[in-house]
Amino acid sequence: MMTYTASQLLDKVNAYLKKMPYVRPPQGLYEPIAYELSLGGKRIRPVLMLMAYNIYKEDVDTILPQAVGLETYHNHTLLHDDVMDKADMRRNKPTVHNVWNENTAILSGDAMLILAYRLMADCPQDKLAEVLRTFTETTMEICEGQQWDMEFEDRMDVKVDEYINMIRLKTSVLLAAALKIGAILADAPSEEAQKLYDFGLKMGLAFQLQDDWLDVYGDSNVFGKNIGGDILCNKKTYMLITALEQANEVQYETLKQWLNAVDYVPAKKIAAVTALYNEIGVGHRCEEKIEAYYSEGLAVLESIALPEERKETLKAFACSLMNRQV
Ligand code: IPE
Ligand code: IPE
Ligand code: MG
Ligand code: MG
Ligand code: MG
Repeated sequence: MMTYTASQLLDKVNAYLKKMPYVRPPQGLYEPIAYELSLGGKRIRPVLMLMAYNIYKEDVDTILPQAVGLETYHNHTLLHDDVMDKADMRRNKPTVHNVWNENTAILSGDAMLILAYRLMADCPQDKLAEVLRTFTETTMEICEGQQWDMEFEDRMDVKVDEYINMIRLKTSVLLAAALKIGAILADAPSEEAQKLYDFGLKMGLAFQLQDDWLDVYGDSNVFGKNIGGDILCNKKTYMLITALEQANEVQYETLKQWLNAVDYVPAKKIAAVTALYNEIGVGHRCEEKIEAYYSEGLAVLESIALPEERKETLKAFACSLMNRQV
């Protein structure tokens, strides 16, 4: 059986996306959709779905609508997330609410969610119920995660466990569902579909921890987003939570002052909080946690009773994500 490489699968996803008929009136609704989807991005969710499918079956092209549906859904969350996070840059381009306005980000974002459902539902009849159940549970969980994320901005007492649960909901479940839906569509045994899901959960936790780390320590030109956005929003990341827990009295007071500050120069807050992170050493702690979750993920993959060569692509893909700068 033919096993596709990550880059071959990525090409398939991008080619399919390019053919989507997004240019039609009213332009104000569809142009932002075409804009967001044309900016690139890593496309890891559709690629993961195709990889899971390709463990069992060769005709990966047949599930491109679902794979692209998942990517469309992911991009829907980004339009709304950028409004919620007041983010001006994504994929090295101005965000939709920045180019157009917030109303556009809301409505074009809504339309992308609906388009995502249409693509997802365009699967074989005998898979429809399970695919839609998995997808809908996931999208609801992501709303929950995003709500926790927002509520945590106003709290000083968020615990690491609460943070992990929040990122599981807002990020991990989508990577996990990508793998599971790919497996379902390929008629995989349900225990294997579930294990692929669990592998995705662990990878997703590492992935979001890494996103938070890159938001502080990344190179904005490579990462494509403004560095320090999380610090400006008082996002309760693992680094901030750990800094609040481990700070001495002086450090704690300084940190608290910045978290409560109303009138400040953004660059100064980012520099001051980053300096505290460095002093307290939370960047390194975060990197250790990222590695730990990747290892746990790989161990789950290891435990799936499939021939080694069937899991090779997923394993290599997980390893390549570990070193990402984007
Ligand atoms: C961004 O996702 C949102 C997070 C869950 C961190 P990606 O890092 O996958 O973004 P793109 O799609 O590659 O731009
Ligand atoms: C992403 O979290 C979660 C979702 C979009 C659902 P972030 O807010 O950290 O993602 P970025 O950094 O804006 O891509
Ligand atoms: Mg966010
Ligand atoms: Mg964001
Ligand atoms: Mg982020």
